[in-house]
Amino acid sequence: LIVPVILAGGKGTRLWPMSRSQRPKQFLALTGDLSLFQMTLKRLSDPSRYAKPIVVTNSDYRFLVAEQAQEAGVELADVVLEPVARNTAAAIAAATIIAAKDGPALVHILASDHNIVVDEAYITAIDTAAAAARAGRLVTFGITPTSPATGFGYVEAGAREETGAHQVKRFVEKPDEDRAKAMIESGNFYWNSGMFLFDSTVFLDECKALAPDVLAAAEAAVKAAREDLDFIRLGEKEFAASPNISVDYAIFEKTSLASVVPSPIRWSDLGAWDAVWKESAADEAGNVTRGPVDLFNTTKSMVVSESMHVAVNGLDDAVVIATEDAIYVGKLSDAQDVGRVVKEMMRNP
Ligand code: GDD
Ligand code: MG
Repeated sequence: LIVPVILAGGKGTRLWPMSRSQRPKQFLALTGDLSLFQMTLKRLSDPSRYAKPIVVTNSDYRFLVAEQAQEAGVELADVVLEPVARNTAAAIAAATIIAAKDGPALVHILASDHNIVVDEAYITAIDTAAAAARAGRLVTFGITPTSPATGFGYVEAGAREETGAHQVKRFVEKPDEDRAKAMIESGNFYWNSGMFLFDSTVFLDECKALAPDVLAAAEAAVKAAREDLDFIRLGEKEFAASPNISVDYAIFEKTSLASVVPSPIRWSDLGAWDAVWKESAADEAGNVTRGPVDLFNTTKSMVVSESMHVAVNGLDDAVVIATEDAIYVGKLSDAQDVGRVVKEMMRNP
């Protein structure tokens, strides 16, 4: 069985103001009735393939995780709590150590904020990845790029391996736009989907070689962990000693053991408002609306209100998000900037 590890500790700042630090995007129902986290759990519901999932998250989100899992009718193996956020490398290392506590395991890392359709292509990709992971590879999933997006990792596929996966020639995390364009033009590059599959021993050994500080902190934090209700609280000062780095920079840019499974899976990282707009059903004018909103002479826009009545007149390419206590207005095509805007506001409150 594959042990799923769901990363649910991100802040999702680019979806401000709906995604807030107390209720980040993975716990919001952005495209339907279920939250993105709950949809992730539902994708793992086949007990002939998957063991019960491990969720690793910031300790602030522990009740959101527990409540939403229960509401979705999914039993979790463990909820691992990070006392402080140290990004994905440390979170994955700690969860992998816990997944392997009774012996080596095949671990599938999943983001909690993606929209994915489970179809033949998806199941085939998982099977190929599992075979490659059993053969000792650290496997990523490759998505065919549709634009020179700068928010993704880019993976260059090399020679085909026996399992059907391809060797990774190069992994470039979040390139600038010129570099992204050049990579797309050269062909053979895929977006890293942000999901991974590997054998726990192979991953932890590679962590020891490439990110020893991360591994040491994760090991110490697991050793110092205490169980609290259904939660595993990692040791605070031990975990805090880890460098703050994502697994993409810490491991995947550096390792020679990476493989990619290029796959036509229907995947979207609901990273920013333009992606949510693309994944939602727009009307004839290209508008996506939710809540008490009225549009006049407006096209290709996303207008959402969780509170007050909002009227928009004569705009194109706009995003307007109104919540109980904050409003964001900007260009839909500049949706990637929201993260920077939020950071700046936090600096000058
Ligand atoms: N537990 C935990 N702790 N989870 C975290 C943390 C943390 O400190 N930080 C982020 N996460 C979770 C997020 O909630 C999300 O589900 C997942 O980890 C990935 O983090 P993001 O912050 O969304 O990463 P990204 O989108 O910038 O980049 C990653 O995903 C892209 C595809 O969506 C990279 O893997 C890229 O290479 C990839 O293309
Ligand atoms: Mg993301």
